[in-house]
Amino acid sequence: MKGIILAGGAGTRLYPLTIVTSKQLLPVYDKPMIYYPLSTLMLAEIREVLIISTPEDTPRIKQLLGDGSQFGMELSYAVQEKPEGLAQAFTIGRDFIGDDACAMVLGDNIFYGNGLNHKLLDATSDAENGKATIFGYYVEDPERFGIMEFEKESGDAHGVRVLSVEEKPKNPKSNYAIVGLYFYPKGVSDMADNVKPSARGELEITTLNDMYLQEGRLNAQLLGRGYTWMDAGTFDSLQRATDFVSMIEQYQGMSISAPEEIAYHFGWISDDQLRESAARYGKSPYGERLMAVLEGKVVL
Ligand code: G1P
Repeated sequence: MKGIILAGGAGTRLYPLTIVTSKQLLPVYDKPMIYYPLSTLMLAEIREVLIISTPEDTPRIKQLLGDGSQFGMELSYAVQEKPEGLAQAFTIGRDFIGDDACAMVLGDNIFYGNGLNHKLLDATSDAENGKATIFGYYVEDPERFGIMEFEKESGDAHGVRVLSVEEKPKNPKSNYAIVGLYFYPKGVSDMADNVKPSARGELEITTLNDMYLQEGRLNAQLLGRGYTWMDAGTFDSLQRATDFVSMIEQYQGMSISAPEEIAYHFGWISDDQLRESAARYGKSPYGERLMAVLEGKVVL
């Protein structure tokens, strides 16, 4: 199973913050935004990840994350020349994906919830068995998102039965947004070749999802109570994400979405590697919390 983080886009909704830096490098409380989607892929136990960003931002992201060995991972990088749509990630990533199943997370999407690891592993095993998975999350402003309509009664271990998917509909058929986390079986690059540009000129991920739906190969899981999803791409949502993370981390006294910590708990890095990483973060609370993990104070 491979993974892609799509960290593209000009970030104009956050100007002037993003004139000289990448949206995905902005802080969400104590760490850069991209640590969160990276952690989400790690919780799906994906260790080979391609990061796709703009020509200007890709070198900056690489400077921060490097080759991923400090997380026990293999990170590689590719450029999306223009923001031509989310589905394009799978044609840009064709060689990287090869003959594998592949998940994608958007660089500004933040997920939090106990048990997320298990949900993601279900999606991975479905992808390896030929089925795509999307995730639905209740929102009050469904016009702003991809939306899924589903059969309420059809829930089982593998989620609910999807009836339709629509990108930013004027008259949404439900309040469940399709969040920016997708799992696809092998062959996704070939499927993405057939996506035609939408009215807004983009290769929409929703069109790709609809293709899997028409073939009867689309699952959906709901992220219900106990899960939090945030798309931190606007000032208000970025501020809310920062408030949320600071509250959780201060109440629990633990980091959330710390890639080194996840890598350590999964046994992907050694004590020495974790110690080295902690040292890199200096006297920051982030570094101190990594030391607490190393000392065995945080076990989960
Ligand atoms: C994109 C997708 C949309 C999805 C959203 C989640 O929207 O097109 O289907 O619900 O991400 O963050 P965009 O951020 O490009 O407006």
